Amino acid sequence: MQIKNSVALVTGANRGVGRHYVAQLLEKGAAKVYAAARNVDTLAKMVALDPQRVVPLTLDVTNSAIIEAVASKAEDVTLLINNAGSLTFGGALDVTEAKLAKDMAVNNDGLRDMTRAFTPIIEANGGGAVVNMLTLLSFVSAPGFAGYNASKAAA
Ligand SMILES: NC(=O)c1ccc[n+]([C@@H]2O[C@H](COP(=O)([O-])OP(=O)(O)OC[C@H]3O[C@@H](n4cnc5c(N)ncnc54)[C@H](OP(=O)(O)O)[C@@H]3O)[C@@H](O)[C@H]2O)c1
Repeated sequence: MQIKNSVALVTGANRGVGRHYVAQLLEKGAAKVYAAARNVDTLAKMVALDPQRVVPLTLDVTNSAIIEAVASKAEDVTLLINNAGSLTFGGALDVTEAKLAKDMAVNNDGLRDMTRAFTPIIEANGGGAVVNMLTLLSFVSAPGFAGYNASKAAA
């Protein structure tokens, strides 16, 4: 996969690792970077990096209607970076169902639904790549991270 001239979409692009993905993609010559976040207003600094190449999108990866809308806007994508993630704290014996469900919805279901939506697009554009941001904790269970462990392992 060549970054130069690729068209990338980064989820969770407004902060943390996602911001660095956007900056690095621009530096390495991506033709366009769709920077996606739940609140599009939080993407102003990312757009300011290169207003010609950074396209802000509203995206909650747990909302299938929004995923569909984003896929219909970003039909030129060749590189999907599933970066958005959720980490709630709590051990398997005490964490709430709501916290377990939130981590699973973002880290596994959202990643899967984004990949399902964009695989045909990437293929139609001649092929490319999907990058899934997992973690060491996908492979090694740690106390206090029940939802994160399970959801990242599932992904
Ligand atoms: N940082 C590390 O040391 C590390 C290590 C291993 C793996 N990772 C993985 O790398 C990725 C980024 O980590 P990070 O440290 O940058 O995380 P972070 O600072 O907590 O940022 C998480 C990002 O995901 C977004 N997000 C959360 N729920 C979402 C949803 N339902 N729909 C769309 N976006 C959503 C957040 O948006 P809001 O701003 O709207 O909340 C934010 O942009 C995650 O998948 C994480 O598990 C990180």
